[in-house]
Amino acid sequence: MSKKTIGVLTSGGDSPGMNAAVRAVVRTGIYYGNKIYGIKEGYKGMIVGDIEELTLSSVSNTINYGGTIILTARCKDFFKKEGRRKAYNNLEKFGIESLIVIGGDGSFRGLHELLNEYELQGIGIPGTIDNDLYGTDYTIGFDTAVNTALDAIDKIRDTATSHSRLFIIEVMGRNSGYIGLYTGIGGGAEEILIPETKTDIEKLCKKLDIGHKRGKKSSIIVVAEGDEGGSAFDIKKKMEILVDWDIRISVLGHQQRGGSPTASDRLLASRLGYDAVHAIMNGENDKMVGILHNKSNLTSLEETWTRKKSIDMSLLKMAEILAT
Ligand code: F6P
Repeated sequence: MSKKTIGVLTSGGDSPGMNAAVRAVVRTGIYYGNKIYGIKEGYKGMIVGDIEELTLSSVSNTINYGGTIILTARCKDFFKKEGRRKAYNNLEKFGIESLIVIGGDGSFRGLHELLNEYELQGIGIPGTIDNDLYGTDYTIGFDTAVNTALDAIDKIRDTATSHSRLFIIEVMGRNSGYIGLYTGIGGGAEEILIPETKTDIEKLCKKLDIGHKRGKKSSIIVVAEGDEGGSAFDIKKKMEILVDWDIRISVLGHQQRGGSPTASDRLLASRLGYDAVHAIMNGENDKMVGILHNKSNLTSLEETWTRKKSIDMSLLKMAEILAT
């Protein structure tokens, strides 16, 4: 295993557990005699040269914090050749030969482009609450986001039951229904609407009506923000044409991206940070580290977004049966 000068960055939407991953990269990297630089605000810091060395104590007492101590950004300039040229020049200035990028598919696309153009080595760590990357069972932050959403759903259920109301709760997930599915099951939602399935409002209303007539005091619909039936507001509008119920909406939004990471996310992030440094030292390139069936796994970066990580439809069926 050869020693390297490694740059680590977090990019795109932050996710709880990113700090635990940075910590694992820094501590593992230094343990094996590598030099580690933190690149601030993702690719933005690479372009402007906001880069500083990280030591063992730079990551002390950070494993329990949400957000990312090295900051993040969605950087449009990096998707232009000129932006990547500036970024590469800065990497050269610091002698950075290897990169570890913690983020989602957009961040991996950027890394893949950079690796195609310049003599660099790069490994991705899946960090997104959406859990939508092929090649890993879970992404860093997903478990915390689900638990945060569940906490909110439990509270909303209390008021929904007291008032005999129907709530439509919108969770994050631009193109992916993972958060919706898991929070829907965990929160005992009567309906789960996700982008992977067709939304039939008429059928949904009929089903909820059966529950009401049977004496259900509250109903909860969990809708993923990317559902093809529309947002929580769109769904409400469509339902109000068909029924005369007291419907309320709650959009959970960015609270799902914050907070102290759960034990699962801290463990996952620690394993992936550790694996990423080993991958770099073993000469792997243009790949993402993941955990598949509880084993370390490497997937080519391109496959993480070109191949679809499919939702287990039997879980949706189960949710339907359990919510009757
Ligand atoms: O990709 C993570 C995510 O939280 C999505 O679920 C959501 O659609 C998006 O980021 C929101 O991004 P922003 O913080 O830029 O509004």
